[in-house]
Amino acid sequence: MEEKILLLTGASRGIGHATVKRFSAEGWRVLTCSRHPFDPRCPWPGGAENHIQIDLADAAATKGAIEVIRGKLPRGKLHALVNNAGISPKTEDGGRLNTLETDLRTWGHVFNVNFFASIVLARGLQDELAAARGAVVNVTSIAGSRVHPFAGAAYATSKAALAALTREMAHDFGPMGVRVNAIAPGEVETSILSPGTEKIVAGLPLRRLGQPEEVASVIFFLCSADSSYVTGTEIEVNAGQHV
Ligand SMILES: NC(=O)c1ccc[n+]([C@@H]2O[C@H](COP(=O)([O-])OP(=O)(O)OC[C@H]3O[C@@H](n4cnc5c(N)ncnc54)[C@H](OP(=O)(O)O)[C@@H]3O)[C@@H](O)[C@H]2O)c1
Repeated sequence: MEEKILLLTGASRGIGHATVKRFSAEGWRVLTCSRHPFDPRCPWPGGAENHIQIDLADAAATKGAIEVIRGKLPRGKLHALVNNAGISPKTEDGGRLNTLETDLRTWGHVFNVNFFASIVLARGLQDELAAARGAVVNVTSIAGSRVHPFAGAAYATSKAALAALTREMAHDFGPMGVRVNAIAPGEVETSILSPGTEKIVAGLPLRRLGQPEEVASVIFFLCSADSSYVTGTEIEVNAGQHV
């Protein structure tokens, strides 16, 4: 059986961490990207040599990383790309950064990480994705489709743009045999959450926070043969928060 390879951004904690563990357990090799060096405490095999330390806010560095990533694909095939890294800046006292207060530098920074890095990586690795008839999963957010009490305007608009990018990419990558989908988490227990989230959770149909592993399962489904006829869609993973 051919070893499958995943490139995952934002692997060092939260949803990304759970995603590496899930794919590793399923026998995949996972190439990870984040700003920090590989942490030797991470419980998956080959972690250090499969890690690419990169700041995805730096578009030139992201483009430059394409060659490094290619060098780690022995048969020139990439079976999945998961664009998971994301940032959600707040005001100094932890509040929501709205359209009136967000300075353009912050807005640009958020878009580089949450949006542009996704298309730079997918476009740069299109031949390798096509060779594997691979899958791309973009991690969006419920904040991309409605105003959220804690997620800022730059974050929300970057996620709305990423959802639109998913549709455009599904159209353009489909003829190469590459599927492109998104998942939109709601309130998942990671460091990105703000104090007060428990009030939102109390009103959810399922009345609980999500766990990173529950999101990783949906990402895995979208990268597996079980979803072979699914492309251009965005799956809500949010306990019914959107109803
Ligand atoms: N948790 C939720 O409730 C929730 C809800 C909706 C959507 N989401 C989305 O789900 C994704 C994962 O969120 P999470 O909650 O797991 O977040 P998290 O715990 O804050 O983890 C974010 C990850 O992104 C990486 N990252 C941040 N900035 C980066 C940069 N400039 N370059 C490279 N890597 C960078 C971080 O690694 P380093 O610090 O090492 O760089 C980290 O691994 C994000 O796209 C987020 O918007 C989460």
